Amino acid sequence: MITRRTFLGTGASLAALPLLARGAPAGAGEAEIIEARLAQAQIAPEGYPQTEIWSYDGLLPGTEIRASQGSRLTRRLVNALPEPTSLHWHGIRIDNAMDGVPGVTQDAVPPGESFLYDFELPDAGTYWYHSHNQSYEQVARGLHGALIVEEPDAPDVDRDEVLVLDDFRLDAGTGQIAGFGNMHDFSHGGRLGNIAVTNGVFNASRAVKQHERLRLRLINTATARIFELQLQGLEGWVVALDGMPLEAPQPVPERLVLAPAQRVDLIVDVTAQAGGEAHLLRRDRDGAFSHVLFEVAGQAASTRRGIPAPLPPNPDMEVTGLEDALQGELHMEGGAMRGFQSAQMDGREVGFREAAQSMNFWSMNGVVGMPEAPLLVAEHGQTVRVTLKNDTMFPHGMHLHGHHFRELHTDGSLGPLRDTLLVYGDESREIAFVAHNPGEWVFHCHMLSHAAAGMMTRITVRG
Ligand code: C2O
Ligand code: CU
Repeated sequence: MITRRTFLGTGASLAALPLLARGAPAGAGEAEIIEARLAQAQIAPEGYPQTEIWSYDGLLPGTEIRASQGSRLTRRLVNALPEPTSLHWHGIRIDNAMDGVPGVTQDAVPPGESFLYDFELPDAGTYWYHSHNQSYEQVARGLHGALIVEEPDAPDVDRDEVLVLDDFRLDAGTGQIAGFGNMHDFSHGGRLGNIAVTNGVFNASRAVKQHERLRLRLINTATARIFELQLQGLEGWVVALDGMPLEAPQPVPERLVLAPAQRVDLIVDVTAQAGGEAHLLRRDRDGAFSHVLFEVAGQAASTRRGIPAPLPPNPDMEVTGLEDALQGELHMEGGAMRGFQSAQMDGREVGFREAAQSMNFWSMNGVVGMPEAPLLVAEHGQTVRVTLKNDTMFPHGMHLHGHHFRELHTDGSLGPLRDTLLVYGDESREIAFVAHNPGEWVFHCHMLSHAAAGMMTRITVRG
């Protein structure tokens, strides 16, 4: 834990926040720029030293991108980092060439070079963008931002706010981001931080009014932390998951679980009294903490409003043809306590001990890391079912690129559309989707140190 004493003890000077980088003036087809570069951020509370981060445009999180559904997004990624990088647009049903996965859809962008991303935004909702190179480290250093695709008709709310939930592991002495490549993190639950933040800020707060209606877009950009959230003095509905609207708004559950990379859109009313407080609470082993404080000043209306209308569905999301679907299984093994008997790694058979020497701890279908052959090869438009069998002691947040899927429950019912599904240890869950998007789509654990330590595969959709 970070204590005030150790931080104040360092007496480090506070660097000024760098100015927002501006790309070449838009015009003559020149795209806006997203510059990946080093920056300083006040992650620890005021009075503690600033932290050097890897940023988009000098900001933490990166510039909030807002665009309208059906429009084209064009951004030039300029790499001013000391390492190659790339941009992945998480949850977007994107043109495969723009998916941002080095070694699969593009080469990583070397320092000093750039890459033009240009693609359509077919779906409204809450998405995000992040580095997909050395992502367990680059995302944890700050390379992520929100991508909001707005519906043609916005829902009736007083405010629309993005809350990027994240954590950082800071060295208690220096306030700097602590090192990477820790064996324990890789083989257990991933690299958890020791300071939890909202939009890059510790103990975030907002001023609201009683009976105000807020749309809160929660994005978990942490590389390992599963946020368990609870509302206090706020009441309302879940209206979308991972960007995709629910058919009917659902009351916010007592405990709202948000795995790494997942998003949830809430429409909530401030029910706390004027002069009081409302909270987004974060629960962990030690209890409940205020993650975001809402200070209630005054009244927006004298009474609460009724249930909000559902958000309009995104186009062509039906999952049909389950009976004659292409079927596959993804068997996860490894990690601390259980390991695996043996697995293929770099084309040869290795035991768990040997894999561990190169920081690999996980296998999927008996292969550590990206397999030579894809998990499945689907025809364009074919329905695909995959059973996710977690034979490890740890939860895994499995993310499929380029598609949203539904969980297929054992009673035959279909769950909500998602792009990332949390599968707990010893659980087996089945997902189904229509392979509507041609290309090579990676499918991996979004506990990013797990992905780096073996949990990575891909699905091919023929064009
Ligand atoms: Cu958000 Cu492959 O990742
Ligand atoms: Cu995992």
